[in-house]
Amino acid sequence: MLDPVRVAKDFPILSKGDLTYLDSAATTQKPVQVVDAIEDYYYSCNSNVHRGIYRISEEATERYEKARENISQFVGSRDPAGTVFVRNTTEAINLLSYTLGRQLKAGDEIVLSVMEHHSNMVPWQFLREKGVVIRYADIDSEGRLDPEDLKSKIGRKTRIVSLTHVSNVLGTVNPVSELAKMAHEASSLFIVDGAQSVPHMPLDVKSIDCDFMAFSGHKMLGPAGIGVLYGKPELLMRLPPFMGGGDMIREVRLDGATWNDLPYKFEAGTPNIEGAIGLSAAVDYLRNLGMDNVRRHEMELMDYVMKRAGEIEDLTYYGPRDPKVHGGVFSFNIGQIPAFDLESELNSRHLKISSQELHPHDISSYLDQSGIAVRAGHHCAMPLMTRLGVQATSRASFYVYNSRDDADKLFIALENAKKAFAR
Ligand SMILES: Cc1ncc(COP(=O)(O)O)c(C=O)c1O
Repeated sequence: MLDPVRVAKDFPILSKGDLTYLDSAATTQKPVQVVDAIEDYYYSCNSNVHRGIYRISEEATERYEKARENISQFVGSRDPAGTVFVRNTTEAINLLSYTLGRQLKAGDEIVLSVMEHHSNMVPWQFLREKGVVIRYADIDSEGRLDPEDLKSKIGRKTRIVSLTHVSNVLGTVNPVSELAKMAHEASSLFIVDGAQSVPHMPLDVKSIDCDFMAFSGHKMLGPAGIGVLYGKPELLMRLPPFMGGGDMIREVRLDGATWNDLPYKFEAGTPNIEGAIGLSAAVDYLRNLGMDNVRRHEMELMDYVMKRAGEIEDLTYYGPRDPKVHGGVFSFNIGQIPAFDLESELNSRHLKISSQELHPHDISSYLDQSGIAVRAGHHCAMPLMTRLGVQATSRASFYVYNSRDDADKLFIALENAKKAFAR
């Protein structure tokens, strides 16, 4: 079992006792173990990797490559050549849209869903200029992917299906293994946005059978500026490079160049060495907690949160009611919320938050006065907001250091906010 109070003691920012941090879907706090690993690298072997023929550079290279192996194993990838270090999920998906996009032609189709984060939408939209068509699968009234609608969007021309594993707004956990099957039956590639799943549940890229998966270190207790693109090595091998420069080449002549082996072909320039080492320490930390325990804790907490939410009049929350298919994010609005509009995106676009509602920004500022940090806004999912018929939501997101006590603080403060704004 995971004891969140005990876990929180490893996080200096939380142990002061004046912060209830409920914004881990945006970025997580960092335990001392991660900070120590980065500090130790700086103090004992800071140097560049893959080039120095001297002791500390060899040590730095070894730590960097060990980090790659460790992180590969964490997501079930046996071959570290399929683990490319990038800055974050956003960069990983841009890498894919650029490299895969060069191989697409006018009329080819890409299937996404309306619940995608902008980073799994905008990079694909770039390809419209070459005539690529983007199709969006819809959601049902509980914010689950509509499987029939998805099936109808995947067809003969589909080349890529790219979907989030867990929605950063709805919390919906999508059945990615089934989705992979659906995509592969149509001879399409299948990409998973794992930004909100890799940090929160046991996961194995081999059993999902995704072709590519993207995730970010800063959402899983690691530092910012380091993320991963996992890819099946045989597929990565066939892609052209993304950025050109040092380390990604085998040989450069005045009239051209040849490319380095995987994964270096995609890691141009000096990489984020300390970031990789920090992320590896974060992976050790999570493994130590046990990913089954992490997920179980989250499900129990969400079950509690949803029950508490039901006690607050005028509170609407989004996403599946079953904690088994709901991640650690809890998005909500308070007040007269426009009805969920299944019919028309156009209608919902004109629905504004009414004056009787508490605006998510007001809720967030009010909660901040009690030391509670939640997110307010569109959460980089504007098309989803439109689909839900709202401009914005408040979002409390929970992680390994959050307890029922944090949820209680949130709901007490929300009741107080309602009273304060009613005056
Ligand atoms: C589902 C999802 N995908 C992608 C991203 C983008 O992550 P990053 O900003 O680390 O690139 C986020 C960030 O919130 C996310 O929640």
